[in-house]
Amino acid sequence: MAEVQLDFLGGLRRTHSCGQLRPEDTGKRVILMGWVHRRRDLGGLLFVHLRDRDGVTQLVFDARRNAPALARAQELSSEYVIAVEGEVDLRSPETVNPGIPTGAVEVAVDKIWILNESRTPPFPLEDSVDVKEEVRLKYRYVDLRRPRMQRNIIMRSKIAFGVRQALIEQGFLEIETPFMTRSTPEGARDYLVPSRVQPGSFYALPQSPQIFKQLLMVSGYDRYFQIVRCFRDEDLRADRQPEFTQIDIEMSFPQEEQIFETIEPLIGKVCEAAGQPAPARIPRITFEQAMRSYGSDKPDQRIPPFHCVEDLFPGGGLTAEGLPLVAIHIPKTGPLSRKERDDFKAVGQERGLRVYDDAKRLDRDYPEQMAKLRERVQPAEDDLLVLAGWGGQPKGALPERTMLLAAGHLRMHLAQKFNDRHKLLDPSVFKFLWVLDFPMFEWVEEEKRWNAAHHPFTSVHDEDLEKLSTDPAHCRAKSYDLVLNGIELGSGSIRIHRRDLQTKVFAALGFSEEEARRRFGFLLDALEYGAPPHGGIALGLDRLVMILAGETSIRDVIPFPKTAKGTDLMCEAPSTVPERQLKELGIRLTGPVV
Ligand code: AMO
Repeated sequence: MAEVQLDFLGGLRRTHSCGQLRPEDTGKRVILMGWVHRRRDLGGLLFVHLRDRDGVTQLVFDARRNAPALARAQELSSEYVIAVEGEVDLRSPETVNPGIPTGAVEVAVDKIWILNESRTPPFPLEDSVDVKEEVRLKYRYVDLRRPRMQRNIIMRSKIAFGVRQALIEQGFLEIETPFMTRSTPEGARDYLVPSRVQPGSFYALPQSPQIFKQLLMVSGYDRYFQIVRCFRDEDLRADRQPEFTQIDIEMSFPQEEQIFETIEPLIGKVCEAAGQPAPARIPRITFEQAMRSYGSDKPDQRIPPFHCVEDLFPGGGLTAEGLPLVAIHIPKTGPLSRKERDDFKAVGQERGLRVYDDAKRLDRDYPEQMAKLRERVQPAEDDLLVLAGWGGQPKGALPERTMLLAAGHLRMHLAQKFNDRHKLLDPSVFKFLWVLDFPMFEWVEEEKRWNAAHHPFTSVHDEDLEKLSTDPAHCRAKSYDLVLNGIELGSGSIRIHRRDLQTKVFAALGFSEEEARRRFGFLLDALEYGAPPHGGIALGLDRLVMILAGETSIRDVIPFPKTAKGTDLMCEAPSTVPERQLKELGIRLTGPVV
């Protein structure tokens, strides 16, 4: 770095931020502080764009006004931190910059303090410059200065504030729960923290505050929420991080409907905070309907549903290869090339579907049915209509679901593939949806057993109670997901509040009484001390901000995220620790884990 004489901040105070000044401030004496964003040196005249998180203000150093200040400003480079004092001037009409809110004024500088210098940044701070993510994450403190990141992080803070406002207005209390605790079953692996004072024992970081929020209901707190960090050791994707933030909510004596009525104003506030219109009442569909219309439990409603057409082709069905079971409708793709048709045919076939690349044979053999099908689907001239039947093996406990999932996969593949033709998946359109009545259990083929589809504290539908031991496949849970543009935003359920029912569900999941006691004894005990009916939900804050900010990865809305390998590239975590520290914890490494 160049040797620059630095000044002290001393008693200097800012009068305004860099995004604040307007024409009505003309003539005021102001003190601004910030970073040198850009500088343009015209000899006797030097312009600096001074930046802080609030905006950019143009500074003018003029030899005729103040030669020493200009001389000092000539030492500046990109990202130096400075303070200036000067007078607000109206810019002449031809120099107004309509692109920034302060663009009608500038500050004629009389005094400058250089508070710190800066090395040349590892990449330009312009959004338009494409920088490799590894470099951005290594120098995250620089990356976070870029306008896009500042906008995202500021939006995140506003959204969190909106959440607090909406919930506190509805009588919720913000209550903290422990991070050093024992395992919570949310389907991932735990992060463990060794105990020094009890060698050989470990805390688990919470996968969610699920059990604690239920205990708070037993304790009579009635309405709880927390914006809380959760920890899950699972395979990472664009919408998953090992530590992420939930908007976690629980309430006593709720109907499912009351939970939706609580969340909907919250979503309204959140959209407002993100500068988006609040959705009207969020539509609801059941899991079964979602499967039969979208082949997904998180339907993206920006494109039309598919249609089950099995009823039009008698004699067809899952075992009769060849006849269509679903009609997928993708609007406005226009004509497709041979290669494009072959590509999506292959995608369907990979998942066991038999995909018709054109409907000519069906039109010839089944004219009446095809006419009815077109009447049902109503495709326009330049829309794509893809018919798919089942060519695969019926697999698992529910073959029809396998087929519907495959069709759902193909539907989304087509929408993504032809997105550029007609902006089918427009990121500025927000389609919220409640999906209700999920199955209580899902079959784990490898282990040949049932697993809780949500978590083991979820209530079964009253009418399905008897099926717990006789027909687990068809037990519906009192559970619901909030979906936004095909992404699961949140999940929740009405909980089991009775000890006898909790025991039955543990039994259906194959937990012995002993194992249930060992893992959740304290919860089972609490259920015996006057647990009220209760239920709740948790929304993923990172995913919510990601979608509203128009991003495609939650890493872009988390200040210090981890890579897909769970690494923090900036502080190089995880890291090895000195032998002494391991010894204190009673831990001996046996060598590389394979
Ligand atoms: P669930 O496990 O479905 O439910 O989580 C709720 C929401 O949290 C978000 N989420 C994640 N976000 C980023 N990275 C991850 N690794 C990650 N995992 C989950 C998702 C998800 O919808 N205790 C229950 C809630 C309840 O029943 O009240 C729970 O945690 O947006």
